[in-house]
Amino acid sequence: MWLKSMVSRPKPSDAYPWHIFKELEDSLNLIEDFDQIALNFLGKIKESLAVDNLALLIYDQDIGKFRVSASMGSLPGVKSISFSSADPLVKWLKVNKTHLSLRDQPGVLDYLTAREREILETLGAQLCYPIISMNRLIGILFVGAKTERKLFSKQELSFIALLTPQTGIALENALLYREQRERFRRMLRADKLATIGELAAGAAHEIRNPLTAIKSSLQYLEGKSQDETARKLLGTALEETGRIEEILSGLLSFSRPSEIKKERHDLLESLDESLDLIAYQARKQKVRIAKELPQSPLYINGDKSQLKQLFLNLFLNSLQAMPQGGELKLEAGPADGKDVLVTVTDTGEGIPEENLDRVFDPFFTTKKGGTGLGLSICYGIVRSHEGNIEVRSQPGRGTTVLTKLPLKV
Ligand SMILES: Nc1ncnc2c1ncn2[C@@H]1O[C@H](COP(=O)(O)OP(=O)(O)O)[C@@H](O)[C@H]1O
Ligand SMILES: [Mg+2]
Repeated sequence: MWLKSMVSRPKPSDAYPWHIFKELEDSLNLIEDFDQIALNFLGKIKESLAVDNLALLIYDQDIGKFRVSASMGSLPGVKSISFSSADPLVKWLKVNKTHLSLRDQPGVLDYLTAREREILETLGAQLCYPIISMNRLIGILFVGAKTERKLFSKQELSFIALLTPQTGIALENALLYREQRERFRRMLRADKLATIGELAAGAAHEIRNPLTAIKSSLQYLEGKSQDETARKLLGTALEETGRIEEILSGLLSFSRPSEIKKERHDLLESLDESLDLIAYQARKQKVRIAKELPQSPLYINGDKSQLKQLFLNLFLNSLQAMPQGGELKLEAGPADGKDVLVTVTDTGEGIPEENLDRVFDPFFTTKKGGTGLGLSICYGIVRSHEGNIEVRSQPGRGTTVLTKLPLKV
């Protein structure tokens, strides 16, 4: 029985590089790094099938979409390609649990959306393989045409089909490991920020009272003084107290956001109003603004003015990261059925790995004249709305800030 079921595997032929299968299997047991597994997998397929283009999309829980994890070949704009679970292609792969050959099953194309067909065209995809682990579709592999435009042989097709389950398990393990690490990191960060918040709130309150006394004394003296120089100095001192007040209120809105006035409103309005505020600056800096927003309203229960401040801070950070121009992309939409996800992506300088854990700390700044309070305030606002905020970045390429807020239907 055993032997029989093994024989039903496609029969190896001498001409075919089956050793690659073994090599990949061995290497999968050794690596635990997700990106390396993905690249290794694509590398093996490219090497053995001589194909131009390959793209591997993996389900990203944070954004609820299949995103490009690794690719090979020249595929401009490949990084921005994504599929959602509701897309017909994803559904087809989930149901059929087998590969789709666009050449042999052209009828399936009619069932796809225009956007999907466009993506397949961009990828030059001939084959789509589901990557399944524990009965779940965790990824999709797109295989482009063969280098010399030859057809794929049956043997080649089953070769990929044999590689994918192995890789699926390895990828899933690496993902779980990555998620676990991420969860731990978030926990530490929340803990750290809660402690800093307590400290900051205490200090800010303590500083506020004497500051008010200083300010009113200065104002009194400024009014009384006849001496020009003295008035000038008092004016400067007053301005500086103003600055301290600003910093204090920033600190307070990080640690204990002022009473939030929640009201049901369309988040798209807050987003548009915040965008309007930076439109001029963006044009001046040659930053293109791209919007991917839904047609229908996104109702949430939140404090409109605070949310506007939140997005304004994110947009400003993006603009400041792109002094030479670039693209600021704003996307929003429902995620997981219970949240709204807003992503702000820029093509700026990015954030070095070692700073990623510190960007929400109050006073952490890498900018000349920066206050380092912007993201701390964002964190405070999101937390008081029972949401979540995350930063992802690729130094030299850009940054994405993901904000999740509870959806109010
Ligand atoms: N979109 C972004 N691109 C690159 N770096 C960013 C971005 N957003 C935030 N940062 C980094 O995080 C730091 C803290 O940001 P923030 O709290 O807004 O303070 P500030 O803008 O005053 O520096 C910034 O100094 C910068 O190093
Ligand atoms: Mg800022």
